[in-house]
Amino acid sequence: MYFQVTRGVAKRDHAFPKHAEPTVFIMSNPLVPPPSAQVESGAAAITAHDNRWLRCDIKSISLIGNVLLRQLSAEADAVETILFRDGKLTEASASNVFIVKGGVIQSPPKNELILPGITYDVIVELARAHALPLEFREITQAEVRGADELWVSSSSKEVLAIVQLDGRPVGDARPGPVFRRMYRLYQDFKQQVMRAGRRERVSA
Ligand SMILES: Cc1ncc(COP(=O)(O)O)c(C=O)c1O
Repeated sequence: MYFQVTRGVAKRDHAFPKHAEPTVFIMSNPLVPPPSAQVESGAAAITAHDNRWLRCDIKSISLIGNVLLRQLSAEADAVETILFRDGKLTEASASNVFIVKGGVIQSPPKNELILPGITYDVIVELARAHALPLEFREITQAEVRGADELWVSSSSKEVLAIVQLDGRPVGDARPGPVFRRMYRLYQDFKQQVMRAGRRERVSA
């Protein structure tokens, strides 16, 4: 389900109209997960400078920055554009990013520079519930390139291993063991939620 809420019908002006009724638009599409061949072998991504504004935590329909950044990877036959601001990992054009180093899952902390994705939260919840080491910290470009594993996460990509970055292999160029564990946990969780018809926390 995709919800878009706009300010409503009013004379064109940047300032918020005082008496407009918000327009609520909802569209639904079947959620198509990535093909199993891609999950099995992993995907390619490229990198770019994160040139978006400084309130990337706001989920907005003004997506021009993300759209232009995503187009870079589309034209390079890659699934995502992974972004760095001042040499630090932020997220990707339409997903959050995790690395694994020495068995520890790592991701940038939630702040105004990233969208706090629902899938990011699910991954964090699953890692905690299953005692997988997890750390939130600033991650440099060199750490991303030298990671054992690199993942992107979003509602449509679920959790997907990136095995090639800017044409170079990540780790041993195959989805790694921590990815495979998290992917399984995510699929089991999804089945449970779908069967129960409601969202229950997996940890306190
Ligand atoms: C910029 C950005 N970051 C992260 C995400 C992941 O969010 P979610 O896991 O809620 O799909 C999205 C999804 O659209 C996104 O556009």
